[in-house]
Amino acid sequence: MAVNGRTPLIAGNWKMNLDHLQAVAFVQKLHWALKDAKHEDDSVEVAVFPPFTDLRTVQTLIDADKIPFAFGAQDLSTHDSGAYTGEISGAFLSKLQCGYVIIGHSERRQYHHETDEVVAAKVQAALRHGLVPVICVGETLEQREESGPTAVSVAQLEVALEGVPASADIVVAYEPVWAIGTGQVASPEQAQEVCAALRAVLADKLDADAAARTRILYGGSVKSSNVASFMREPDVDGALVGGASLVVDEFAAIIRYQKHVGV
Ligand code: PGA
Repeated sequence: MAVNGRTPLIAGNWKMNLDHLQAVAFVQKLHWALKDAKHEDDSVEVAVFPPFTDLRTVQTLIDADKIPFAFGAQDLSTHDSGAYTGEISGAFLSKLQCGYVIIGHSERRQYHHETDEVVAAKVQAALRHGLVPVICVGETLEQREESGPTAVSVAQLEVALEGVPASADIVVAYEPVWAIGTGQVASPEQAQEVCAALRAVLADKLDADAAARTRILYGGSVKSSNVASFMREPDVDGALVGGASLVVDEFAAIIRYQKHVGV
């Protein structure tokens, strides 16, 4: 656990990669890769976010082999059940023992036209079913140039937190759109500036305790070679990793780094 009391969270967003058979091999290999590092302590929490079709398989494996990874889904429906073809209910996810669900990833906002209001409704759906929402916010390069580094993320988080009780268990992820999958990483200072602004939103919309306890992740081209620089920032409590979470040794190195710096 870090000195600030927030356990770092390293989350792997697989996006539409790895089928359920590949998922088994991946989780087993990652577990083996980390075994030597004795990661079965509370110095860092590891979570994987496979596609929906892998969740049952991943849950069964994690459960059977007592693998200390959390897991979650990449999205959920705003509705709990009914005539919504193709949608997945939070009720199903919590029955599968998902701990987390990613909400409002920029790829959902961009390709599926998810508005801030839809994101807020999904946050409510997650909380109704005992899932921890990983609320993603972040600006495009155009928006950064137009309104500065923090305005878009702050506004997105403010809407997402509508109706969220101060006691809710949530995670926030700052992912500048211009840094996702581009190799164009934000500087640690840029990440810190926005994460600090997001923590201020938590204090304002929820309360001081929620701001102190809620983990804020940075995401966007995180690799083993740069994770340390982000984790040194006081308001960055972990990473949401895309591409580098699909390579066992690289993802293990990102997780292991946490241990070695003793955060
Ligand atoms: P990336 O993706 O690490 O491949 O940039 C991050 C994300 O989209 O969560």
